[in-house]
Amino acid sequence: MAVLTRVATTLAAICSLLDVASAEPLGLPPVPIPADNPQSADKIALGNRLFHDLRFSSDGTVSCATCHADDKAFTDSPLKTSEGIGKKTGTRNAPTVLNAAYFSTLFWDGRAASLEDQSQHPFLNPVEMGLPTHEPILLIVRSDPFYLELFKKAFGKSGSDVTMEEVKKAIASFERTIIAGDSPFDRWYFKHETNAISEAAKRGFEVFVGQGRCVSCHVVEQNEALFTDNRFHNIGVGINRAQFDVPRLSAEFLKAKAQGVDVDKAVLTDPKTSELGRFAVTNQFDFVGAFKTPTLRNVAVTAPYMHDGSLKTLKDVVKHYNNGGRSEGDPAVVNDYLSGGIRPLQLTEQQTDDLVAFMETLTTPAYFGAKTK
Ligand code: HEC
Ligand code: HEC
Repeated sequence: MAVLTRVATTLAAICSLLDVASAEPLGLPPVPIPADNPQSADKIALGNRLFHDLRFSSDGTVSCATCHADDKAFTDSPLKTSEGIGKKTGTRNAPTVLNAAYFSTLFWDGRAASLEDQSQHPFLNPVEMGLPTHEPILLIVRSDPFYLELFKKAFGKSGSDVTMEEVKKAIASFERTIIAGDSPFDRWYFKHETNAISEAAKRGFEVFVGQGRCVSCHVVEQNEALFTDNRFHNIGVGINRAQFDVPRLSAEFLKAKAQGVDVDKAVLTDPKTSELGRFAVTNQFDFVGAFKTPTLRNVAVTAPYMHDGSLKTLKDVVKHYNNGGRSEGDPAVVNDYLSGGIRPLQLTEQQTDDLVAFMETLTTPAYFGAKTK
């Protein structure tokens, strides 16, 4: 009996090793890995430690995980906008890092081209980690015995050979392991487990791909579902109120940008500049108030919603779409830059609830406990 148990355990261990090497979680494609930053166990372990290190903030109280907490699906839910050093608040809601590895650009406005590039900014942002330069980070990673050993193992470097390049690469490698699929929806849709989700959720999916037209931006494909098109759209959040200010705001912003202003700081510290959205990156008026389509995976556990955290519940989100891009209390007129894909939907109360039930099936049990209603 003991021998059998041991054989079974060994087999299970081998299978799980194979799993790590080959299979992606159900519903997700392979994670894209850049050629100049291959994954390794040492690099991932190092990145994990860097991600959670409080010493990389000006007052020693904030790490990446402060706003992207492991037990909150890598967000700071229920905060509306993030809190950094000294409880300073930024202008935007912290998106999840779960599955961020699949995005072709990072941040709500896509101003970072890769996870590596993204990871250097929070350290210096005055409302996030508030360091004056990256130098204090290098001082620590070049002298702390733990880091000395890990940088050596991961990159074959130590002491002054370690630069921000390795720090960024290690963080990005760790983030490429924060992947979540295999939700009840995946088991129903891709594995055809009929009872994995409720009848309400199944009706909700019909609305999602049909009358709601959600799927045109939150993409679901034949063998995988990232729930994003990696593009930018103005769906009428925040900008409805700020639109009359756009001529002045955009002119001031372009001038500051030409003078070399730090865009990362500008959009996260000034609420009105934040509303320019993708315009801040492209300088094109077509992109005023446009933000990146977020994934909807684990959305039920990451309230509140949208780039500014202005919508409290999933029901509020559906109502916003149902009103053709206006939330309760918004000005009567929609904004001039609204995406053509956003029009009143004429959904019934039942369809609204069904759509919410559908979105609740996108939670990965491994992170949050099953929500199989
Ligand atoms: C004070 C809170 C805070 C801290 C600290 C913080 N972040 Fe963020 N993070 C945010 C917010 C807010 C955004 C969205 C900002 C924007 O889009 O302009 C964001 C965006 C991101 C994104 C982009 C996700 C996407 O969908 O595009 C990644 C990845 C990320 N952060 C990783 C990190 C890493 C790595 C660190 C540490 C080096 C870190 N964050 C530190 C709040 C924080
Ligand atoms: C034209 C493209 C488009 C369509 C159509 C669309 N969305 Fe979105 N969705 C977006 C964008 C862009 C955002 C982020 C907007 C922002 O923050 O300003 C978003 C945000 C969301 C969020 C908030 C996610 C979060 O983490 O904050 C939810 C939930 C959502 N959409 C659900 C839906 C549903 C349900 C439908 C169909 C009724 C739908 N979307 C239709 C593009 C779209």
